[in-house]
Amino acid sequence: MKLKRLFNKVILVSILLLPGFTALAEESLGKSKSATCSVCHGSKGISLDSMTPNLAGQDADYIVHQLKAFKSGTRKSAVMKSISESLTNNEMIALANFYSSLPFKNMEEKGDPSLIVKGAAKYSLCWSCHGEKGEGPGSYPSIAGQHPQYTIQQLQHFKDGSRINPVMKSLVDILSTDDIEALSAYIATLKH
Ligand code: HEC
Ligand code: HEC
Repeated sequence: MKLKRLFNKVILVSILLLPGFTALAEESLGKSKSATCSVCHGSKGISLDSMTPNLAGQDADYIVHQLKAFKSGTRKSAVMKSISESLTNNEMIALANFYSSLPFKNMEEKGDPSLIVKGAAKYSLCWSCHGEKGEGPGSYPSIAGQHPQYTIQQLQHFKDGSRINPVMKSLVDILSTDDIEALSAYIATLKH
C-alpha cells in the first residue's frame, strides 16, 4: 500500500515537471542546432550579409512554415533547401522558438532620405497585415529592420513567381521597381 502511494507520488511529480523539462530540452535543442545557422544568420539572429534575412524576433510559425517551404521546394533557395532537408519537424520547431525569442534589432541602416519618405507613403498598402511598425502580428512575418537588398529581392521573387504567395503577388504586381526600392528602404528603418 505504502509503496503504491509512493509510486503514485513519483508519477504525479513527473507529470508536473514534464512540461518544464520538455521546454528546457527544446530550448537547448534549438540553441545547439542554431550553431549551423549562425554562420549566415548571425549568432544572435542578426545577419551581416545583405541578402540573408535576420531571424531574431521573427514569428515562430512563420519560420517553421518557411523551413517547410524550402524543404518541399515551394520556396526556392539552393542553400536553404539542403539545410532544411537535414532538419526534422521537432528541430524546426525548436529552432523557430529559439530565433523568435531573440531580441529584435534594427539595422540602423541610413538609406536615402527621399526614398524613405516615398516608401513611407506607399506603406499604407502593407500595414493591414504586417503592422504599422512592420512587426507582423500573428503569423504574418515581421519585415521591420530587414536588409533592404533582401526585401527588394523577395518582393521581386513574389512578382516573378519564384516565391509563391498569391496575396503578396497581387500586391507587388501593382508596384513599380522604384516603389519596391522605396518601400524596402522604408521597411529597413522600422523598429518594434
Ligand atoms: C550558408 C548560409 C546559410 C545558412 C548556414 C543558413 N541559412 Fe537560412 N537563409 C540563407 C539565405 C541566403 C536565405 C534567403 C533565401 C532566399 O533567397 O529566399 C535564408 C533564409 C532563411 C529563412 C527565411 C526567413 C524569412 O524571413 O523569410 C529562414 C527561416 C532560415 N533561413 C532559417 C535558417 C535556419 C534555421 C538555419 C540553420 C538550421 C539556416 N537558415 C542556415 C542562408 C543560410
Ligand atoms: C493581405 C496581407 C498582406 C499584405 C497587405 C501585405 N503582405 Fe507581405 N506578406 C504576407 C504574407 C502572408 C507573407 C508570407 C508569405 C509566405 O509565406 O511566403 C508576406 C511576406 C512578405 C515579405 C517576405 C518577408 C521575408 O522575411 O521574407 C515581404 C518582404 C513582404 N511581405 C512585404 C510586404 C509589403 C512591402 C507590402 C505592401 C506593399 C505587403 N507585404 C503587404 C501578407 C501580406
